[in-house]
Amino acid sequence: MGIESIADRHEFEPGPTRSWLLAGSGGVRSKAAHTRARILLVDACPKNRRTMRTALGEFEHDVIEASSTSEAVTAISLHGVDLVLISLLAPEVGANEFCRMLKRAHATQLLPVFVVANSDDIEAEVSAMDAGADEFLIAPLRPKAFRARVQASLRHKAMIDSLNDSEAVLFSLAQSVEERDPTLGAHCERLSLMSCAMGIAMGLPPRDISALQRGGYLHDIGKIAIPDSVLFKAGPLTEEEWTIMKSHTERGERICGHMRSLADVLPIIRHHHERWDGSGYPDGLRGEQIPLLARILQIADVYDALTSSRCYKSALSSDEALEIVCSEARKGWRDKEVVEVFGDVLPMFRTQPPADLSRISLQSLAASVEYFRKSSSQGRPAHVFEESRFRLVSGL
Ligand SMILES: [Fe+2]
Repeated sequence: MGIESIADRHEFEPGPTRSWLLAGSGGVRSKAAHTRARILLVDACPKNRRTMRTALGEFEHDVIEASSTSEAVTAISLHGVDLVLISLLAPEVGANEFCRMLKRAHATQLLPVFVVANSDDIEAEVSAMDAGADEFLIAPLRPKAFRARVQASLRHKAMIDSLNDSEAVLFSLAQSVEERDPTLGAHCERLSLMSCAMGIAMGLPPRDISALQRGGYLHDIGKIAIPDSVLFKAGPLTEEEWTIMKSHTERGERICGHMRSLADVLPIIRHHHERWDGSGYPDGLRGEQIPLLARILQIADVYDALTSSRCYKSALSSDEALEIVCSEARKGWRDKEVVEVFGDVLPMFRTQPPADLSRISLQSLAASVEYFRKSSSQGRPAHVFEESRFRLVSGL
């Protein structure tokens, strides 16, 4: 498969998931990203609770402890919590039943629950996941990975909390699209973040940044209507299959079209596969006819697909992917100015972010973009995501 066809095919990749930056339905709200989360630890053994508390590390979360499931219920109803870490063998009903209970109740069904087991037992893991657990972890916990998972779940919950009920349903559905393909990982989260960074670098207003953030999660929601046999086909698609695949843009627009709060996101959903020269779909728009936010998101989408492995291709390096994006701009497919901005902010995303970077807010992202651009223009390498540097910039 040649470079061109890889980039092409990427465009038919499955999409959406989780949250990163936090935007309310009425605009960007960065504050929530800094809000302390309340984490409930449920384990009969004080020593185990201490271990979990230690594994949470330096994050300044409020930690509540319970020694049984009934104490846990009290804690949830009294304090409200953002995440539950429960021992598989928690006294009284045990983790699985407790989890089922939470997932059945409307008020707690989206509360992330991590079950912690003492040994790697596949049957126990399957039972816990069947019960609705969001994660099944084995003690001793690996602090770095553990913290990253906790932070990812907290971000997701914060995003859900910021949405109205109908939006929450759509975001959950969008996440389910991404979860159909385990190779996608945090595709939407990355997309959302990269698009927002580009929007910030271009000086777009908060309303647009909020749309970009949401677009990162919702742009491919129409794939919910695309059968697995097409979405995950390893070989080339037939003409008829391409037609079905391409319909995800219009289907997505229809799915979200009834929600006024998503009006700014609709052009992203419909037009993220248009091309600058008019050869894209669904409407064959050209140049600036293509909504700017769609042009922004599509660059991040192309790049992220190229740097990820798929059932029919392996991942390219960051440099290789950027070169393809640039060559597509030269070929007339992409907006050159947007690609240039992307090239400016890309180095921010080249290094693996440290775990606590997940606490980034829109404000701190903006500060990082600003810092990074200044550093770049002075010809110095700027590892914005290097932990110490990032702290300096964002004030985290
Ligand atoms: Fe798409």
